[in-house]
Amino acid sequence: MRLWAVRGDLTETDADVIVNAANPGLLGGGGVDGAIHAAGGPQILEECRAIKARLPDGRLPRGQAVVTTAGRLPARWVVHTAGPIWSASEDRSEVLRSCYRESVRLAAELGARSVAFPAISAGIYGWPMDDAARQAVAGVRAVDVEHLQEVRFVLFDDRALAAFEAALSD
Ligand code: APR
Repeated sequence: MRLWAVRGDLTETDADVIVNAANPGLLGGGGVDGAIHAAGGPQILEECRAIKARLPDGRLPRGQAVVTTAGRLPARWVVHTAGPIWSASEDRSEVLRSCYRESVRLAAELGARSVAFPAISAGIYGWPMDDAARQAVAGVRAVDVEHLQEVRFVLFDDRALAAFEAALSD
């Protein structure tokens, strides 16, 4: 399985699966979540609503992942995961690694050959980018799945790209 990092916009990425940095409410937001819903169209939100209705108390537990189709996006599916909010006092690293592990597992179950991630939790959720990159790479490397050929980290700025390239070279 090839792991690599590239500068780009996840909504323009043609991987089989793109992963959304969502929130437990699953009804959209800002950042990459807002961009995916804006570019993907209402179909994605409709499917999120149906999934939400079946979740305990209507919320996706942080670290878990669910899947919808991708609406008007070039991808085939969107996997939605809710990352942990950065905390200086509580180590939530395992929850962040779980976002990557569970998203890769779900993508493999779908038969995807390629998965593209943003830097989960490293925006509005405040996670320091260098550590977000390390947790991302560790989370993906912890999963051994057949058939999945490629995991791509699609980064929105050069600072994020440098952090992920450093984490991948460790
Ligand atoms: N493509 C790729 N990466 C993007 C894009 C995009 N189109 N837009 C933003 N990003 C980057 C940000 O620059 C950041 O590095 O994605 C990373 C994650 O940032 P957020 O989208 O803010 O996600 P997160 O930090 O996990 O916060 C999630 O924000 O948008 C809300 O509904 C979302 O409540 C949830 C919270």
